[in-house]
Amino acid sequence: MIYPIVIYGSETLRNKSVDITPDYPDFKKLIDDMFLTLEEAEGVGLAAPQIGKNIRLFIVDCTPWAEEDPSLADYRKVFVNAEIYERSEETSLFEEGCLSLPGLHENVRRSVTIRMRYLDENFVAHDEEFTGKPARVIQHEYDHIEGKVFTDHLAPLRRNLIKSKLQKLARGSYRCTYKTKR
Ligand code: NI
Repeated sequence: MIYPIVIYGSETLRNKSVDITPDYPDFKKLIDDMFLTLEEAEGVGLAAPQIGKNIRLFIVDCTPWAEEDPSLADYRKVFVNAEIYERSEETSLFEEGCLSLPGLHENVRRSVTIRMRYLDENFVAHDEEFTGKPARVIQHEYDHIEGKVFTDHLAPLRRNLIKSKLQKLARGSYRCTYKTKR
């Protein structure tokens, strides 16, 4: 099934998510449905809070960048109970958007490289370094399971400038091509 995507203003996006255990009901189906939902919305990442579940689960699909970086040709990954424990001092700016904030695009500064412990969809443990586009998307999705959204990273002045847009989202005044809920 395709889930409706939770829009900015909902409490679900502000809660810190909790770890999940291997006995989580219908876990494989949930992951398949999240990939379906992501594909339908044409995004590059989706976190469980965005479909109304405050659990530490997110998926990433970097294949839209495969043309400029062939190593991303099959880059679809599942991250369970992730913990970022190192972020590089070196940062970069990149224009981000978010399925939960339709119509908003802002430059966000993030670390170029991170180190993260996580479980995959089979609950196998990994400790891995990520850099470039994957590190960018992972940090964005990781924010979601921590109750943050990308506009939280903007400088106060910039955030103030887009305040009315955020209020409109929270009031339900937005347009997008995929199913949403508040
Ligand atoms: Ni997002």
